[in-house]
Amino acid sequence: MSDWRIDSRGVVEVWTIDREPRRNALTRALVEELERHVARVDAACNVRAVVLTGAGEKAFCAGADLKEREGMSRDDVRAWLVLLHRAFRSLERAAPVFLAALNGVAFGGGLELALACDLRVADPGAAMALTEVKLGIIPGGGGTQRLPRTIGAARAKELILTGRRVLAAEALATGLCNRISAPGHVVAETVELAQEIAQNAPLAVAQAKAAIVEGQELSWEAAAALEREKYDPLLDTQDRLEGLQAFREKRPPVYRGE
Ligand code: COA
Repeated sequence: MSDWRIDSRGVVEVWTIDREPRRNALTRALVEELERHVARVDAACNVRAVVLTGAGEKAFCAGADLKEREGMSRDDVRAWLVLLHRAFRSLERAAPVFLAALNGVAFGGGLELALACDLRVADPGAAMALTEVKLGIIPGGGGTQRLPRTIGAARAKELILTGRRVLAAEALATGLCNRISAPGHVVAETVELAQEIAQNAPLAVAQAKAAIVEGQELSWEAAAALEREKYDPLLDTQDRLEGLQAFREKRPPVYRGE
């Protein structure tokens, strides 16, 4: 039985982690399935954005499944970390835009999954934390790397070293999330945001995302070269010509992703 519910809304898909009784905690099987879904939409050109959320109202995702963890050997945990890094990175590198709709708590690996997404929208009741040091471990799904890149090293150290919960208002103020939705409307509002992005030229959106993701740790010279490299293939696209023509004809462009 699948732990994901996939719902297609035109060029946007909504992926719901469907383990409400376990607060949508991440098992190995669930993360392997996530990888397969990412590979599918990365290869297809008909999905431009994906909204990730969790079943129920309490949790987006309560992190790694700590009950599955109890039965793991040290090597199993090491393999788990490799899987988690690979899956989250594949999502970060995939062409479609990923948006996390934080319908409830996002703890540990749940917040790390949200951090691998391009944008995060929080319900006013959502809470976020990297709780790992309270469990005698450290974040292992990229949290020590993506949180500082998202909110800055000083704030990230505070959150990782205390393990404390951040509520939606603080998350918005620090840039941990992009928006707060109306209560109970986080998925609908995140889908709207996804559709706004999906109206733009898809190849251009994918190249812009890649330039940002890949350029973060480069020197200015290397990053500027990367930006030119990502720009270049767009010069040959029909969508670029359509953008110019639509501007001249004072009408909205119609992009086909070619
Ligand atoms: N792994 C496995 N099971 C989990 C889980 C996790 N990470 N988080 C919650 N669950 C399970 C609980 O054990 C419980 O199952 P049970 O009734 O069989 O014992 C069920 O989900 C509901 O959890 P409960 O705590 O009763 O629900 P809640 O809505 O009051 O609180 C959380 C939800 C997520 C706030 C709370 O469960 C929690 O803090 N979990 C740990 C989160 C964490 O630290 N994750 C980081 C892992 S590195």
